[in-house]
Amino acid sequence: MSRTVTVKPFDYVIFGATGDLTMRKLLPGFYYRMLAGQVPEEARIIGTARSPLTRDAYQGRALEALKKFIKKEDFDDAKIQRFLKLVHYVSLDGSKPESDWNSLRALIPQDKADRVRVFYFATAPNLYGAIAKNLHDKKLAVGDARVVLEKPIGIDLASANDINDSVGQYFKEENIFRIDHYLGKETVQGVIALRFSNPMFEAVWSSDYIESVQITAAETVGVEGRAAYYDESGALRDMIQNHLLQVLALIGMEKPASMAADDVRDAKVAVLQGLKPFDSRTVASHAVRGQYVAGKMGSENVPGYLEELGKESQTETYVALCAEIDSPRWKNVPFFIRTAKRLEQKVSEVVITFKPTESRLFPTEAKRNVLAIRVQPDEGISWTFNAKNPVHNDFSLGQATMRVDFAQTFQTRYPDAYERLMLDAVRGDPILFIRRDEVEAAWTWLAPLMKAWADKATPMAHYKAGSWGPDEARDMLKRHHAQWHEDMSL
Ligand code: BG6
Repeated sequence: MSRTVTVKPFDYVIFGATGDLTMRKLLPGFYYRMLAGQVPEEARIIGTARSPLTRDAYQGRALEALKKFIKKEDFDDAKIQRFLKLVHYVSLDGSKPESDWNSLRALIPQDKADRVRVFYFATAPNLYGAIAKNLHDKKLAVGDARVVLEKPIGIDLASANDINDSVGQYFKEENIFRIDHYLGKETVQGVIALRFSNPMFEAVWSSDYIESVQITAAETVGVEGRAAYYDESGALRDMIQNHLLQVLALIGMEKPASMAADDVRDAKVAVLQGLKPFDSRTVASHAVRGQYVAGKMGSENVPGYLEELGKESQTETYVALCAEIDSPRWKNVPFFIRTAKRLEQKVSEVVITFKPTESRLFPTEAKRNVLAIRVQPDEGISWTFNAKNPVHNDFSLGQATMRVDFAQTFQTRYPDAYERLMLDAVRGDPILFIRRDEVEAAWTWLAPLMKAWADKATPMAHYKAGSWGPDEARDMLKRHHAQWHEDMSL
């Protein structure tokens, strides 16, 4: 179990408390934090949603969620009962001033300055402004009350600015916690440690030695029960704008001046702002969008995206991009980014391929060194390098791979990304949250691509469910003399 930093008693109000995210991630996350001793007994988790439920009925739903989403071995009746005592419910439409705000106010002690107040917005993002205004007008957003904004922050730069402006009227930037759960993943944070605590990596982290970087977030699931959201969003907005660009920023950033939140965020935003803009040529040559068609996941036949959706759609379920950071460190180094639903395997990883050595000393050619950072599952790293192959009597080389499994090395369980982030908001620690300028830089970079795709300026590629994606994405890498990493045994 990970070490915990105790937090002050808190009132954590969740808007959208009957939704999938609350049930799947937030409530189980709080339960695990309670098991870890981080949630004080006086804490209160207050669900709000429009459904007219009693507290008992909501606790019943919470119990069902815990049964479903926490591991059997962690389910303990007495602890579950202790947890449910923390859970309250108010039937409330957060976007409506005439809703039952009095009941919510009655649940939150008004005079206890030492309690932390957090409002978590897990609703549709277009409601964030109205909820923030109501919290202000109803005098609930007092003191240093914090607000956690779930992604996506908008669907483009203009809508993101609207959301940020309207929430920003009532909450100071330092109290706005924009969540990107990839930053809650230990292995994503681990990139900073790996890069800046090991001379062996720090010294070679540039175009002098690195040939290319690949960032992958592959999923086996389809759109699950979220077709309405997903079809509006697509893979570019759902995964690239936030999660994958955050990983890219951590791989690409300069050394931050310190580990203070703003120093790290300054370093990240410089990368995002330094991404080379797409132009009419590169939207075609440096980007591939695709949709899955019927195929096989293991032995199961699965329908294509359009069949699942039951209508025509131009929404992409696959994206592969070739990005470039315009900085001396990364001159001419392609960053290949891809994400998709219904690929062969669920895996998130970063693969760094190093330039080959120029020396021709040996009878066989030295292969490229490869560093793979496995974000999930099987969190760890692998390092593939050349070694003298002892089978031969000369200096012939062979490839050897060192693998490190972090869970085994550190004898710990990997918490779900949300656990840490939810409590970081209580602690008021913004390091793993997204600053407004990062959101803006990401949307700005994607704008020409979104426009080209909306104008159907580039074709939609297709790939079979259960495959590794469309040929067009393979061809894009071939043009860079590269290939996608598909041997996930590394
Ligand atoms: C979410 C996306 O942000 O991330 C989902 O909305 C996606 O579509 C999920 O499935 C992936 O997260 P993870 O942690 O499973 O890689």
